[in-house]
Amino acid sequence: MAKKSKKLQTAQICIDRDFEISPVDERIYGSFIEHLGRAVYEGIYQPGSKFADKNGYRKDVAKLIKEIGVPIVRYPGGNFVSGFRWEDSVGPRELRPSRIELAWNVIETNQFGLDEFMKWCGLVNTQPMMAVNLGTRGIDDAKNLVEYCNFKGGTLYSDMRIRNGAKDPYNIKLWCLGNEMDGPWQLGHQTAEEYGLLASRAGHIMKLVDPTIETVACGSSGLTMPTFGTWERTVLERSYDTTDYLSLHTYYGNGENDTPNFLANSVAMDRFISEVVSVCDYVKAVKRSKKTINLSFDEWNVWYHSNEQDEKLEKWVQHPHQLEDVYNFEDALLVGSMLITLLRHADRVKIACMAQLVNVIAPIMTSDTGAWRQTIFYPYMHASVYGRGTVLNTVVKSPSYESKHGDAPYLDSVVIADDEHESLTIFAVNKNLEEDMEMTCDLRQYQGYKVAEHILLTHDDVKAENTEKNPDNVKPVTVKNSKVEKGILSSLLPAKSWNVIRLTK
Ligand code: AHR
Repeated sequence: MAKKSKKLQTAQICIDRDFEISPVDERIYGSFIEHLGRAVYEGIYQPGSKFADKNGYRKDVAKLIKEIGVPIVRYPGGNFVSGFRWEDSVGPRELRPSRIELAWNVIETNQFGLDEFMKWCGLVNTQPMMAVNLGTRGIDDAKNLVEYCNFKGGTLYSDMRIRNGAKDPYNIKLWCLGNEMDGPWQLGHQTAEEYGLLASRAGHIMKLVDPTIETVACGSSGLTMPTFGTWERTVLERSYDTTDYLSLHTYYGNGENDTPNFLANSVAMDRFISEVVSVCDYVKAVKRSKKTINLSFDEWNVWYHSNEQDEKLEKWVQHPHQLEDVYNFEDALLVGSMLITLLRHADRVKIACMAQLVNVIAPIMTSDTGAWRQTIFYPYMHASVYGRGTVLNTVVKSPSYESKHGDAPYLDSVVIADDEHESLTIFAVNKNLEEDMEMTCDLRQYQGYKVAEHILLTHDDVKAENTEKNPDNVKPVTVKNSKVEKGILSSLLPAKSWNVIRLTK
């Protein structure tokens, strides 16, 4: 049992078995590997390491990725993709060129490429989410890449794939049409009008090569982008028919060391999602379309710890320690709240990628001595492992506090029902830093459901980290904080905590 604080707040979650938001699309638990820093080299791939298999893939990292259960991985960028020539990364390694990599000011050797990535996807049981370069390249290269990956054979690029060892087409289903094209930092950055047309043409030609693919057009790189709203509208007005999903990206930081406001960022994320849904539906209405554009939140996380250090990085070296945020306990709380926010929008958010997966703003870190779980690993792993089923439409009564994003409830929660397996899972964050919370939920429609497990992640110090030397400083425990009596669930959520309450019949 976790240590009790003096005061106790109360909150209620009201559910009705028939009030559903949507089944969870498992792709909401996706992640991201970019050619950036040590994500690929020394992250998932390190030939010669004592942790590598015969192909150079790190087995310890693969094991942790399988522990999370990551259904899709976006690749190869990110900003990197906007300068990437995919042909450089395939074929005999000794013939692959090294290139100046202008997004991150490094040298890319191309010793790991498309075919190695596809093999690795099989190793960790994930599906690729491939991005095409619409920055420095364009529709012809996008077409050729789909041909290389998905065409059966008998053509220039499909035969190239076969020669490189992949007889069967990869059949990659999900394709990003560039990356963050609204950002002035992006190689080949464009206006919304230009990008909207380009995305439409690229999506059209890519679907001619393989009509079964789905495309993701770039939305805004964040809610605070000056073009937010207009960008989405303009891009969709031009590319509606060939686009299936619109992307959103967001990263939060606590540079001001203001934990309550930092934790309230999930309120901003919630608003971001609702507003993008509104713009998608506005364009749908104007076009009198029957098609609905859903959302791909394909970059989300906390990112700020490494910013200062990264400013001092030497340029034009290979895979430096870049964007290596060391996460603390409050970051894990916000990540938990962000996952809850994504799930509460499961009717429209069908894809989401925690950015990123290994070493670069990541839940998993590596060194020559092994791999370890950062604090944010836990809520991500819990959500992916236990958050499968249908999200219920809950009414939550919670005390709240005033934040820079307006009223922020102390309780963030989501309820997922899995009728097939007769289970209910509640993910809940108590954002109150001082007070425990008694959370109740009337379960009388779920006759016979009992508490199977209450998993708790908490720590006295919000700044506590997991490091190479102290990898288990912040880790979950199982507690006896929940019970069902006369059909009412009551759970004690300690101050500043992430909770997974699992009920089964
Ligand atoms: O994930 C790190 C970077 O953040 C990505 O390359 C880019 O898309 C975003 O700005």
